[in-house]
Amino acid sequence: MHERFRYKNKKEIIEKAHLLGFELPFTDNISPLLLPVATAEFSVPNRLVVQPMEGYDSEADGSPSELTKRRYLRYAAGGSGMIWYEAVSISPDGRSNPNQLWINKKNVASYSALNNEVRREAEKAGINPLLVIQLTHSGRYSKPSGIPQPLTAVSNITLDKGSPYILSDDDLNRIQDQYVASAKLAAQSGFDAIDIKACHGYLVIELLAARARQNSIYGGEEPSDRFRFMLRTIDRIKSEVPGILITTRLNISDRYQGGFGVDSDSNPDFTEPLLLVKELKERGISLINLSMGSPYFNPYVTRPFDTPLPGQKLPEEHPLLGVIKMINGTALFQKSFPDLFFVGSAYSYLRQYAPNVGAAVINNGDVSFIGLGRSSFAYPSLPLDLMINGQADPSKVCITCSGCTRLIRNLRPGGCVIRDREIYGNELKKLIADGK
Ligand SMILES: Cc1cc2nc3c(=O)[nH]c(=O)nc-3n(C[C@H](O)[C@H](O)[C@H](O)COP(=O)(O)O)c2cc1C
Ligand code: SF4
Repeated sequence: MHERFRYKNKKEIIEKAHLLGFELPFTDNISPLLLPVATAEFSVPNRLVVQPMEGYDSEADGSPSELTKRRYLRYAAGGSGMIWYEAVSISPDGRSNPNQLWINKKNVASYSALNNEVRREAEKAGINPLLVIQLTHSGRYSKPSGIPQPLTAVSNITLDKGSPYILSDDDLNRIQDQYVASAKLAAQSGFDAIDIKACHGYLVIELLAARARQNSIYGGEEPSDRFRFMLRTIDRIKSEVPGILITTRLNISDRYQGGFGVDSDSNPDFTEPLLLVKELKERGISLINLSMGSPYFNPYVTRPFDTPLPGQKLPEEHPLLGVIKMINGTALFQKSFPDLFFVGSAYSYLRQYAPNVGAAVINNGDVSFIGLGRSSFAYPSLPLDLMINGQADPSKVCITCSGCTRLIRNLRPGGCVIRDREIYGNELKKLIADGK
């Protein structure tokens, strides 16, 4: 049963996990979070990652706005070792909203300028972060003009509203060209790594699960057919954009019917995601950011919360259990591929205890990096506080109120309505005044 976060101390949250039948990893020593990683492919100064968080605040041409810049400069000043830029569209029709970032030939200089400023700002904090761009096509959730214009790989009765346009193989080949072109621009604008986004119900994860797609080289029963789009895209980027690090944000279980990494009851079945990671590893991919669920269908899986969006029911699943399922699912992958580096997700629900739990999970060898999403909106300077004070300040943490999601669902710029009140609290007030 869902419950709000009311733990007054570490003993209470650890006991709650026990009552739910699980052990919550926990340590008072957060030093594992501050250890660098250096491999032949990449270097990261600490284990804290700003997760990709769409801000719905680009200019109309897809370039970063002043608000976008503000968000990234706050991350840069905060000391995270890796800044994983939000979903950036590879095409105008694949945008999730009219203000989704979209990298293209005409605006590539604005991305170079942003990256330069981010690097300068991080340097002031003594950090040289790895900059990752998340390239995406929103597929079923495309809304380029603010109204849904779904472009899907396959129909899905659980998710479809109306009859979406089903992309042909020719369409997909064109989209693949757009991924490669965007990857070239991303490299040109100074990103260290390119994420081929494969999570949260968007186009690439949909293709990975497209069993019902007929007469197509990109779907069907065989995993190798369903993996083809993603793997070909990666192979092309490897050969056409040499030197750039390639990664992916991958859902290891969609936890809905017809999704990726699920059994016939929509429970996690990691067989195919493990097979895909093996293929990725064979292609030299060494960094993978893991997630689960869909923000549209089962948001409590992707981002366990205290408060749902207005009008949404409270989930049956206890949010702490959601956090533990993400930790345990990720651990299975990290243990299966100990030489790869996995980023773990969904830690923000843990508030001031996120660093303690994250450090313990790293200590156990169950993950390599700790990703922070909503926490980075609310408390971008958490890494610096950990370096200086060894602990998080409870008065700055995200309280998982869903306010930022409420803003973006209403096509307003996204940020923390609680801890960054002057801008985003006011945005929420305007929304409420508009009756939304
Ligand atoms: C407002 C908002 C925007 C998000 N945008 C993205 C995105 O662009 N790409 C992505 O992979 N995940 C996105 N996510 C999911 C987060 O990256 C993260 O996985 C999720 O919030 C759970 O982590 P947390 O508990 O640290 O917040 C978004 C989540 C929120 C709340
Ligand atoms: S609005 Fe702020 S406190 Fe609420 S969920 Fe988003 S980041 Fe967390």
